[in-house]
Amino acid sequence: MCGIVGYIGPRDTQEVLLDGLEKLEYRGYDSAGIAILADHHISVEKHRGELANLRNALAKHPLKGHIGIGHTRWATHGQPSDQNAHPHLGPEGKIAVVHNGIIENYQYLKDTYLQGHTFKSQTDTEVVAHLIEMFYDGDLFAAVQRTLAVVTGSYALVVMCVDDPDELIVTRKNSPLVIGLGEGENFIASDVPAMLAYTRRCIYLESGELARVYRDKVVVTDLAGNVQKNIVDEIEWDAQSAEKGGYPHFMIKEIYEQIATFQQVLSGRIHADHVELENIDLSKEEVERWDKIYIVACGTAYHAGLVGKTILEKTLRIPVFVEVASEFRYRDPMIDENTLVIVISQSGETADTLEGAREAKAAGAKVLAITNVVGSSIARESDMVVYLWAGPEISVASTKAYTSMLIALYLIGFYFGDLAGRVDLRKEQETLRALEKLPEQAAEILEQDRIQQIVDIAKEYVDVEDLFYIGRGMDWAVVQEGALKLKEISYIHAEAYAAGELKHGTLALISNKTPVISVALQEKTFDKTMSNTEEMLSRMMDENGDISGARVLVVVKEGHKPISDKIHHVIEIPDCPDFISPVLAAIPLQLIAYFTALERGCNIDKPRNLAKSVTVE
Ligand code: AGP
Repeated sequence: MCGIVGYIGPRDTQEVLLDGLEKLEYRGYDSAGIAILADHHISVEKHRGELANLRNALAKHPLKGHIGIGHTRWATHGQPSDQNAHPHLGPEGKIAVVHNGIIENYQYLKDTYLQGHTFKSQTDTEVVAHLIEMFYDGDLFAAVQRTLAVVTGSYALVVMCVDDPDELIVTRKNSPLVIGLGEGENFIASDVPAMLAYTRRCIYLESGELARVYRDKVVVTDLAGNVQKNIVDEIEWDAQSAEKGGYPHFMIKEIYEQIATFQQVLSGRIHADHVELENIDLSKEEVERWDKIYIVACGTAYHAGLVGKTILEKTLRIPVFVEVASEFRYRDPMIDENTLVIVISQSGETADTLEGAREAKAAGAKVLAITNVVGSSIARESDMVVYLWAGPEISVASTKAYTSMLIALYLIGFYFGDLAGRVDLRKEQETLRALEKLPEQAAEILEQDRIQQIVDIAKEYVDVEDLFYIGRGMDWAVVQEGALKLKEISYIHAEAYAAGELKHGTLALISNKTPVISVALQEKTFDKTMSNTEEMLSRMMDENGDISGARVLVVVKEGHKPISDKIHHVIEIPDCPDFISPVLAAIPLQLIAYFTALERGCNIDKPRNLAKSVTVE
């Protein structure tokens, strides 16, 4: 996620900005830059790569001044490069802007308001700088207001103007922004670690608000310019917990971020009755020619692929095969120009998946990448890319990237299904509307009373050695990810089974020492999964029909009560079409893994023996 800083005051602005950007490095970035205003001129220095590149350049040509803005970029539109790095300037260099978020209608804005403009970057942000400069007629605040009236998307913006050296204008919608209050100086940042060295007093700008930031005052307004009351908070976090937004671990922070990442991956891609995907340019004939799809990925991304199989078979009506990347390339798979190969990778650098993509291309297949990292090797080497826009994932255990992969797969399924004319349009409408509801439903699952239920359940798993997950169809795919999550961070042995398959052998392992988590979210298999859950319950009972020890937990949709009263715990997820339930079901399973690992005192963000990005085969 991009990091923003701003400063106005008597200190060495360059140092304050660089220091702030350094404190935001944990958010992940691919380039960094600053702009400082002095003597009616805005000077910009920006570089791809490490902050050190920017520091080295500035050491040779320091920028002096008492007002400035800075940015660490995590690419969404346009590759990581010097040109695409922020700040961005208006056409005459009068306006400088840094931005975190996504301007959804940037192409429309270019076509409608900015015809004839030349852009130096491929970013959505530069459009905002051009718009503000075009609307500017001596009143910066009014120019920002006019710009916001035509922009759609999410943003945190800081704007600086050559004609207005005593003021920074900031605004935000669905992207974070904090204003730090000093004595005769003020600070702006996406996150508090950037300002902790200078102040602990701050204003958290509300979504839809603007603020005029001067040296000695801050004026907060609504979009119409009506002045709002300044609510000043005291930051109590230490530097380390501030990086995690006050959460004890990145993993739980990232689980909560799903409320926003669900929104981000959908952002600008659903249009009333259809899906639009950037970076994909295929004809109906090309899509119709595909006779099969391979999904190639590792670990959590592979589990997303398992859900993807059902999605794509339903929307495209052709067979989909899901393959572990390390196996795929040595299997001599049947691929040719009539095959679509989808590679899924959060990092875009996983060696096995990258080699799978290369193998597929060499065999003549079209390769579509689903990844979170713009400019990653997998993104560069594939024919088409759908980005997750989930922001950097820091915890080794993947959470928000997984659910964004699932949502991306729905979007891809409907996009290609529509192109080929194979989609049931009524079903598509229903699903698209349901996808749009996911962010608010994620927020419901993450409400405190629901969390407390999971915290209590997790306490029961502290001394468990083996745990079984069961489900059918899409639920089976979901429990495979649930089990992996528990294994990798709590070190409990967990197995995920197709519920109907247990009786063919594995049921022999079930006793009152093996808790069971059963996921039953598919209407058509609900009763069957419940019967399989009962089969397990009866293997856990003593001769009096009592169960001591292991517990059984079922995950169902609101209102779908399990039949047996022997079941110990029921976790409900909000009502949604069965088809998209995997996205919501993932969250309680992530939470179970997290709180179990927490109870067991494990190193949650950096589990033993594991690395975030696996670049060896
Ligand atoms: C997820 O929790 C794991 N750490 C791991 O399985 C991961 O998903 C896998 O290594 C693939 O990574 P990628 O998505 O970056 O390719």
